[in-house]
Amino acid sequence: NRGWLKTHLLSYKTLSLVVLSVQTSTMVLLLRYSRTSINFAHQPYIITTAVFSSEVLKLGLSLGFLHIESGKVMKATLNRLYEDVFINIWETLKLAIPAFLYVVQNNLLFIALSNLDAATYQVTYQLKILTTAIFSWVMLGKRLTPIHWLALCLLMLGVSLVQVEGSSNGNGSNSKVLPVAPEVEVLEGGDSVILGGTEEGAGFPPPDIRNEHPNTEVSRLLGILAVFVSCISSGFSGVYFERLVKRGTQTSLIIRNIQLGMFSIAFAVIAVSSDSTAIKDGGFFQGYSVATWMVVLIQAFGGLVVSVAMKYADNILKGFATSLSIVMSTLVSWLVLGDAAPSTQFVVGATIVISSTVLYGLTPQKGGVYTAGSQLS
Ligand code: C5P
Repeated sequence: NRGWLKTHLLSYKTLSLVVLSVQTSTMVLLLRYSRTSINFAHQPYIITTAVFSSEVLKLGLSLGFLHIESGKVMKATLNRLYEDVFINIWETLKLAIPAFLYVVQNNLLFIALSNLDAATYQVTYQLKILTTAIFSWVMLGKRLTPIHWLALCLLMLGVSLVQVEGSSNGNGSNSKVLPVAPEVEVLEGGDSVILGGTEEGAGFPPPDIRNEHPNTEVSRLLGILAVFVSCISSGFSGVYFERLVKRGTQTSLIIRNIQLGMFSIAFAVIAVSSDSTAIKDGGFFQGYSVATWMVVLIQAFGGLVVSVAMKYADNILKGFATSLSIVMSTLVSWLVLGDAAPSTQFVVGATIVISSTVLYGLTPQKGGVYTAGSQLS
């Protein structure tokens, strides 16, 4: 029944995009909070362990879905795993590439949000729409119309406006979140003097608890670099996965996620091993707070929603959905978290970014490997 199918696909598509939009803003704010909130009882948690934990959770959830899909019969679940993952080894091996890139990207996400405020991170990360468009053109044969190119140029203009604004105050557009703690210098004879620091920073522990790098310029550069590399990885991996779930073999989305998850865990283990000394000293879950666990949970859940959006919508529409989350998180971080109000230049830049994304999303695509349900209408 075509009508039923269309409605069904449409609801998956719309739902995944809406959920993704809410998930992205919650994730960005919580992750930023988990890295920068001041907690005397905690050392900062180890990023690679958080990425590993969310990968394990994601694979666990995917296995759970497979079990439900197999009628909750263990033998049937194991049979499907054996056939689709181990016998079908060539199909499984194809997922090693995006798994590697996603593990790198997910680690970079934590680094970016440890060094940039939420709004700058999100707006800059919108450049992934450009990389996604290029990879969609090269790998999926989607052709861009002049309006798409116009939207992409506007996007870059908007992002640079936000960036120029961010660097002009030397500390991102949200310096209020990152007060600089004063340094204490011990003088001969045991007396101490307090040097520098902002009023808000007084009495807080050293800045490395709240910001990965005490030098805000270096910190900002590191954050921006992490975002740029993520844009390339996100564009390529997203389109690669979209291609796998939309054409070629009939391997189901759940199986694709399991194949991806197995490799992701292997790569995440390699990343964790680079922190082995710190883990031996303080334990695997050192520094985990409730916020950290929520980040792990939301990151795992978000990954699965992303895969649904890639199958039933597409990567460019996914970008459109996440740009809506910029508005949400900017408003929440200003109104609820008490961050500095966005400046006029930031608002203009962000408005251009969002408008260009909407323009892109609403302009019909030509060519490509579209399946039912992949258009916006
Ligand atoms: O920012 P971007 O949209 O590229 O992020 C994609 C996220 O979705 C990554 O965290 C990645 O690990 C996750 N993902 C997933 N399963 C997929 C595809 C992406 O968990 N099948």
